Amino acid sequence: MKVVVTGGSGFIGSNFIRYILRERPDWDVVNFDALTYAGNPENLAEFEGKPHYWFFKGDIANPVDVENALKYKPDAVVDFAAESHVDRSIHGGASEFIRTNVSGVQTLLEAVKKFEIPRYIHISTDEVYGALPLDSGEPFTEETAFQPNSPYSASKAAGDLLCRAYFKTYGTPVIVTHAANNYGPYHFPEKLIPFFIMRAMKDEALPLYGDGKYVRDWLHVEDHCAAILAVLERGTLGETYNIGADNEIANIDIAKMILKILGKPESLLTYVTDRPGHDRRYAISMAKIERELGWKPKYDKTNFEQGLRETVEWFKSHQDWSARAVERSKGVNEHIVV
Ligand SMILES: NC(=O)c1ccc[n+]([C@@H]2O[C@H](COP(=O)([O-])OP(=O)(O)OC[C@H]3O[C@@H](n4cnc5c(N)ncnc54)[C@H](O)[C@@H]3O)[C@@H](O)[C@H]2O)c1
Repeated sequence: MKVVVTGGSGFIGSNFIRYILRERPDWDVVNFDALTYAGNPENLAEFEGKPHYWFFKGDIANPVDVENALKYKPDAVVDFAAESHVDRSIHGGASEFIRTNVSGVQTLLEAVKKFEIPRYIHISTDEVYGALPLDSGEPFTEETAFQPNSPYSASKAAGDLLCRAYFKTYGTPVIVTHAANNYGPYHFPEKLIPFFIMRAMKDEALPLYGDGKYVRDWLHVEDHCAAILAVLERGTLGETYNIGADNEIANIDIAKMILKILGKPESLLTYVTDRPGHDRRYAISMAKIERELGWKPKYDKTNFEQGLRETVEWFKSHQDWSARAVERSKGVNEHIVV
């Protein structure tokens, strides 16, 4: 099996490539990545020059790059490439988000159609469904209507709808996944969990948006990778699959857990002006993927603290990696308040 993975130098993409090189050692993997500020060549450096792994620098919104990568007719494309930072889509302008997350997806779909690639797995987010109230409301299912609230989630929803349209119009073999918030190794330090870990390690304040009671369903990245592999191997074309972890936790509780693990005082918690349009709560039903593909997360609410503890340990032992990732993003994320 030959797989092209777009965005393979980012957080989830690099975990996914590492996961399939371990779980499917006879597969060939091409990492197709533009190496934006979030794409980190260090993440997969150990595989450079080794059998079964190739890196291809390219932009998914550039048809020439995409055709050059797909003309060798891989068996599947798994598409992680995206502008992924909600705050940047709000404060830094959304045009790059539209370019990659919408035009890029359409460019990939065209090439998948042209070269008759048998499977295109498009990785998306539960944020396309909008927000739930804090203490009520059924979890998002695959039937929930899209109501995106940030430029990021709107751009992801547009990409997802293009996938649907190509399947309906041309029979392009797509599957879309919507995952909850991920955490784990190689998480770019602009995102909440690594950002809080890094600040707490340096005894710096942990800035919480608004009242801090913003709830996400935290999914360990390795569980996400296992779910995507199940979808890639056994998912039904034209379907969508939601991937959650039955693990709803408020930001303030995550911050307190990180402080406890690191032995730091709760006086480091601070409150800052809320994010505009901030979604109060996400919760996602994983009933369909569990029922149809037999996937379940290893980390849920019963052992989240263990997953978080391992993640803290990873960041403690990779402080140079984090420092270099932050350095590389200088000038890109300056507008971000926290
Ligand atoms: N991080 C999460 O919690 C989460 C949750 C659900 C879904 N997702 C989705 O998963 C995917 C991966 O997210 P992530 O957190 O790993 O993102 P990330 O920002 O860490 O990585 C994105 C990768 O895409 C690459 N890229 C960006 N624009 C590109 C372009 N035009 N052409 C080629 N490569 C390009 C970057 O260089 C980077 O390597 C995204 O589609 C995101 O929407 C993320």
